[in-house]
Amino acid sequence: MFVLGIESSCDETAAAVVRDGKLLSSVIASQIKDHSAYGGVVPEIASRKHIEAITPVIEQALRDAGAAFRDMEGIAVTRGPGLIGSLLVGLSTAKALAYALGIPFVGVNHLEAHIMASLLGEKKPRFPFAALVVSGGHTNVYLVKDYHRFALLGQTRDDAAGEALDKAAKLLDLGYPGGVVIDRMAREGNPDLFCFPRAMKDSPDFSFSGLKTSLLVMMKKRGKAFVQNEIPDVAAGYQEAIVDVLVEKTLRAARENDLSQIVVCGGVAANSRLRGKFSEAAIQEGRELFFPPMILCTDNAAMVAALGEVMLENGRSDSLDLNAVSRWPLVLPPPNKDGRG
Ligand code: KG4
Ligand code: ZN
Repeated sequence: MFVLGIESSCDETAAAVVRDGKLLSSVIASQIKDHSAYGGVVPEIASRKHIEAITPVIEQALRDAGAAFRDMEGIAVTRGPGLIGSLLVGLSTAKALAYALGIPFVGVNHLEAHIMASLLGEKKPRFPFAALVVSGGHTNVYLVKDYHRFALLGQTRDDAAGEALDKAAKLLDLGYPGGVVIDRMAREGNPDLFCFPRAMKDSPDFSFSGLKTSLLVMMKKRGKAFVQNEIPDVAAGYQEAIVDVLVEKTLRAARENDLSQIVVCGGVAANSRLRGKFSEAAIQEGRELFFPPMILCTDNAAMVAALGEVMLENGRSDSLDLNAVSRWPLVLPPPNKDGRG
């Protein structure tokens, strides 16, 4: 099936074309330069930039795939979670195209799409598997039983891992998005010189907000100038604290649930130290690790199109009154005691 995928949940406007599980094109227009002066994504700017970029990005994705609108048999679009104004741009575009072309469309969950990006790799995981979704907004470990069937094994209680990296980079004046810069700086540094806390060691959940505080305390104690002279070592130590707990807790969850395959996905899965350390640890335990191809770790529409194709082929489609949702957990919390969820 020929499917056009559209993604606009945060600060990337993306479109992709897949056919029968194969990726034919993937175009990503990043808004990094529009938000970097603010040290984070400004929702109002993001929505406006999506409106400007969406049509040219879709047209480019079709051109790169050697296809035309009339070849498309279905459309997949990110429905949530994300910034509501940003999501609405992609969703409205998808609905308009589906209506005009007379083809079905389906709204997909951004987190599930991140996980299913691994299905576009050369080596594909088989259900059931463990998945760590680690990005700027999420740090969740799931047991993935099948498409749309998840159990939550652990989650962050405060900041996401990517958020912790972005906040550190902001404190150190390293620019935005911080994860990429810290990754690069840390390669030159020694991770053992500055020690940062590993919180909630015995819990399946994560906590990263103390890391930023501990960096702030260090900057106060030793002086900002000192810390800035030691950036590679500080970055390496800070990153190591995050990588350590991500690897340890995900492997523990896999062990406890007897899962031999682990998918690591989301923007932070692009981190070189996380990839290296995870691979070593997984080999030692005899577990198989799956990272989506690097370009499919951060936000993209290929993962949306790939998941959407499976859904459409299984007869799932949405009606034109579908709305965007800013929150959409893969696992719903249990209902309240009085029965209201
Ligand atoms: O999945 P994503 O593109 O957007 C969200 O859904 O959040 O993830 C963005 C996050 C940002 O926090 C960014 O700093 C982080 O992924 N990131 C990285 C790397 N590349 C992106 N973190 C560490 N190392 C990287 N190489
Ligand atoms: Zn994402």
